[in-house]
Amino acid sequence: MCLTIPAQVRKVQGDKIFVEQSDRKIIEIWNPDPDRKVKIKSGDWVLYFNGFFQQKIEENDAHEILDMLGMMLDEQNPEVSPKFKKTIDKARHGDLKRKDIIYLLNSNGSEKEFLLSQANELRKKYIKEFICIHGIIEFSNHCQNDCFYCGLRADNSKLTRYRMDTNEIIETAKKAVKERGYKLLVLQSGEDYFYTDKMLAEIVSGIKKECRVFIFISIGERDIETYRKLKKAGASGVLIRFETSNPILFKKMHPYGKDHERRLETIKSLKGLGYFVASGSISGLPGQTVRDLADDLLTIKELKVNMISMGPFVSCDNTPLAKNKSGDIDMSLKMISVARFLMPKVRIPVVTALETLDPKRGRKRAFEAGANALMINLTPKEHRRKYKIYPGRFFEKEGSIFERYGLNLTDESYKMLEKRIREEIQ
Ligand code: 5AD
Repeated sequence: MCLTIPAQVRKVQGDKIFVEQSDRKIIEIWNPDPDRKVKIKSGDWVLYFNGFFQQKIEENDAHEILDMLGMMLDEQNPEVSPKFKKTIDKARHGDLKRKDIIYLLNSNGSEKEFLLSQANELRKKYIKEFICIHGIIEFSNHCQNDCFYCGLRADNSKLTRYRMDTNEIIETAKKAVKERGYKLLVLQSGEDYFYTDKMLAEIVSGIKKECRVFIFISIGERDIETYRKLKKAGASGVLIRFETSNPILFKKMHPYGKDHERRLETIKSLKGLGYFVASGSISGLPGQTVRDLADDLLTIKELKVNMISMGPFVSCDNTPLAKNKSGDIDMSLKMISVARFLMPKVRIPVVTALETLDPKRGRKRAFEAGANALMINLTPKEHRRKYKIYPGRFFEKEGSIFERYGLNLTDESYKMLEKRIREEIQ
């Protein structure tokens, strides 16, 4: 479920292992295996959690993970103006005002790099031990809405639609958990009322009956009663974005039916129901200003979301915004960094939209800007391409380094997540 950060062994003394962490501190961990079946010696690379040795890891893989997570980067001290330094200091003390956020979001060159690296330092400070890996299953691309940016919009007659039935959804989830070790799954669809409350509850409880996994739902803005029933059925979290904090822009993007205030109210009610709530906005929508983006970040903080889901707009064919430019990657990275300052401990996954716009470096850049989680697409291959909220979506190959070392089949990692989710909901 979670990838712990590799460390190098410096000394072994019986069941004690002394390892050097990426911050160069040496700590003592314990090998719980009395027979010491795995031979560990100085110079080896290991993964550990909570003071316990977990497994050995190949040196190359350890370096790849540390590099990907920006763990080896040292604090940078590039040339930045006194005003910029002062604003970063304010950020460290958690008192950024809207005008400061606008100033940070407008940064470029060495000041932008300084912002990202400082957010990375903060992430490393608070999230020493691991980053979390979540899976997402997109079970239906039918949608009754007509959001201007989204390829699933009802009006898009060019899209081939699909729905997975209850059994297929449960089986897909079961495989992800039992064969690949996922401990947290997001079930996502368009706003599709084909699935009644009863069906959705059966899907959630069906999965919970079969396997130990946390279920997050992302099914659009449905009635609060639906969410109440799904909580009872065993769902733990909801992913629902407010898309933009600007009510006028919201209206422009959702001229039919959707109401900005109602969306925010729904998100607040979900927190009230005890859900772990993931929310955020899209950056780079036509007509959106930097001030809007600053307000998005302040809204995220005000809503006290447990996980931030925000990413760049990706232009999609067969939508009213087909001719508009996609969002700016650097702006998305700056958004992550400012969010990290506003909420130092919050979970910020690297979103697919960012990886799609920069498939080679997007993930690494997002980690280095302060992100600390991954969302891996587990939608069955035959449906995947049809979940086209935008084109060219990035997909992770099965068996990546994150899956190999970040997911394990032990109960321990479920318990560790349970503890965290409980803490984070409070
Ligand atoms: N670009 C970026 N994000 C998009 N979404 C939908 N369409 C796009 C697009 N073209 C996001 C919305 C939605 C989430 C599931 O996907 O924010 O809430």
